[in-house]
Amino acid sequence: MVIGISLWPLLQSSVSFRFFSFTICFSFFSMLLFLMRIRPWCSCEICHIYLRSSWATKFHNLCDWYTHLLSNSPSQTIHIHILGNTITANPDNVEYMLKTRFENYPKGKAFSTILSDLLGRGIFNVDGDLWKFQRRMASYELGSLAVRLHAFQIVTAETQHRLLPLLASVANRQDDIIDLQDVFRRFAFDNICKISFGLDPGCLEPSLPMSELAVAFDTASRLCATRATAASPLIWKIKRLLNFGSERKLKKAILLVNLLAEEVIRQRRKMGFSGHHDLLSRFMAAVDDNMYLRDIVISFLLAGRDTVASGLTTFFWLLAKNPEAESKIRAEIVQSMEPEEQIPSYEQLKGMHYLHAALYESMRLYPPVQFDSKFVVEDDVLPDGTFVKKGTRVTYHPYAMGRMEGIWGSDFQQFKPERWLKNGLFTPISPFKYPVFQGGLRVCLGKEMALVEMKTVAVSMIPRFKIDVLVNGHVPKFEPGLTATLRGGLPVLVHEISL
Ligand code: HEM
Repeated sequence: MVIGISLWPLLQSSVSFRFFSFTICFSFFSMLLFLMRIRPWCSCEICHIYLRSSWATKFHNLCDWYTHLLSNSPSQTIHIHILGNTITANPDNVEYMLKTRFENYPKGKAFSTILSDLLGRGIFNVDGDLWKFQRRMASYELGSLAVRLHAFQIVTAETQHRLLPLLASVANRQDDIIDLQDVFRRFAFDNICKISFGLDPGCLEPSLPMSELAVAFDTASRLCATRATAASPLIWKIKRLLNFGSERKLKKAILLVNLLAEEVIRQRRKMGFSGHHDLLSRFMAAVDDNMYLRDIVISFLLAGRDTVASGLTTFFWLLAKNPEAESKIRAEIVQSMEPEEQIPSYEQLKGMHYLHAALYESMRLYPPVQFDSKFVVEDDVLPDGTFVKKGTRVTYHPYAMGRMEGIWGSDFQQFKPERWLKNGLFTPISPFKYPVFQGGLRVCLGKEMALVEMKTVAVSMIPRFKIDVLVNGHVPKFEPGLTATLRGGLPVLVHEISL
């Protein structure tokens, strides 16, 4: 017994030693494999510029540099060797990846590992059967008229009772500058929580309270996005293993997200879920596993908040620079609604073709999701002749595609809603030329809901307020992240238009 006790520390340290040695060897070999795949020694001009970030001397954002490279490439496809990434703005390639050979271009393990701590088995982060099940459930729910009308009622209530009063409270005051991006993020967060969980975080109440869930969720998604920018995934994996630096913060934020999400699920169960229209209640009827429900719910938060807020922010930024387009939208609203109506009906929104075109045009120039990567399962050749190697990434780039002269013509830099209209009616183009909502088998499921939300805001705000944007310069700067976010927000002054 005495011997047993004295041997114990020795045994313990030998196990730790073996574990430690195994971890080091495993990391070393994984690093070697990774390096073989991505060629970090590449000294081509593009990789050199990428590594030294010297693109920043000429371009405001990484996406602007990629756009420049893509429009100068004869095939509209480029390689960043050190990232093992093929980037394309070629519609034929996009159609091939998203539709024709969909199975060869899944999200893949590399992407899902980066986001798995936050998104778990949620729809954004899975392929195969898990994806099929959620896709089927979610498309049934989001496609149903009852759910759409329910979502519309939520959005109109949030607009009428929170957004408009908040804007009126700061209107015509020279020193009341507000950050419109922050207002839209709060607005979209309240809406998606009500639509997804049937619970109201009240982030747009007059005192602008910050929800703990929103803050933890923001931190977690920002830190997950920085994982993708690490030169090697091993860097963040080792940091995670040692619970160090940004990984330690991420772990803390995710723990809080989990706690709050569990609380949401618990409350929903307590209140009873049958007969409710929110998405969580509907998923609860089919799924029993709380962890899986949490993953589903978190994916919807990610899908529905930042995208809509981003789309609205750049829309109002562009309108401030294009007053003729704003006047045309105002004229269409006046023509479609009675003077005493503040909030449009679902039917009235459907008839506003110029507004619809203006939103599409705004997201052409500033798509909320600027790029999206897939993973190559088997060696393949894209329609433009580009060879893509098994295990590497292929990225389609909606931001660059919105600026390709070959797709939009020589006036591609202009904000011109008219390009979407034929005889006054909105006319869409192929989603593979305009993959703002993606396209093919994984096309966005919330597209209609998002457009209704954005139109409701535009129709309620434009006739009543003039938004004075206080940003110098013509090119917005974006934060690195999963969704396009303006660095420094969108500071504005609000003027109430006297009727
Ligand atoms: C302007 C607003 C929006 C834009 C630009 C947008 C764009 C996108 C894009 C690019 C994807 C593909 C992402 C990927 O596969 O990595 C996507 C997927 C998705 N979106 Fe949206 N989205 C918007 C709003 C919404 C809203 C409001 C909801 C739900 C309430 C939603 C639900 C979804 C879902 C569930 C998917 C996953 C589809 C799948 O993987 O099968 N989206 N969206």
